[in-house]
Amino acid sequence: MKVEFCGHSCFLILDNGYSIIIDPFLTGNALASLKPEDVKVDAVILTHGHGDHVGDGITIAKNNDALVIAPYELAAYCEKNGTKAHAMHIGGAYNFPFGRIKLTPAWHGSAVMEGDIPIYTGNPCGVLLTMQGKTVYHAGDTGLFGDMKLIGERHEIDLALLPIGDNFTMGISDALYALKLISPKKVVPMHYNTFPVIEVDVNEFAAGAKDMGFECVVLNPGESTLV
Ligand code: NI
Ligand code: MN
Repeated sequence: MKVEFCGHSCFLILDNGYSIIIDPFLTGNALASLKPEDVKVDAVILTHGHGDHVGDGITIAKNNDALVIAPYELAAYCEKNGTKAHAMHIGGAYNFPFGRIKLTPAWHGSAVMEGDIPIYTGNPCGVLLTMQGKTVYHAGDTGLFGDMKLIGERHEIDLALLPIGDNFTMGISDALYALKLISPKKVVPMHYNTFPVIEVDVNEFAAGAKDMGFECVVLNPGESTLV
């Protein structure tokens, strides 16, 4: 499995001839490594309704006739806006042709803004994606929570993608504690430095993870890691 960081919380995951994108916030992200029109995918996974996660998801899904996979209320919103959609919810798993997806809790909000008006899109989530026996955990936007321990106990996590930017999500200290709970084989930080309010020193996270005995890979947009 190849996991490419595309900026912010967006990852392109390639395995077994399939291509999946998570949280494709590309337009409006100066640090994004992809243009929405260049994205070729079989599925678009959306963790919650915020603009920096839905991003270009609806456009990309329509361009590719790809399935949007999201929590029920957000899936319904995407379907209403012209995409194919597969609704799921927290705790549920489903076997797709490309692999298995299970949604996990995330402590955050979820709404699409239409002008000044929030259209609420249910609960936010994280995602466990298993392809060819390897599991990636994309935590979505979340604060630290104790049930991450359950996620780590119930699943062998080959790669964890964790937000570290603080303000809207876990900051560095909490994200390091999350590593203890999840016990991933490898971690890639996300959701930092995109905006001034989430600027952090990623090297502090990387050094902390290393001190705890975890493999941390800091990816620049466009770079990838193999799982
Ligand atoms: Ni968010
Ligand atoms: Mn966000």
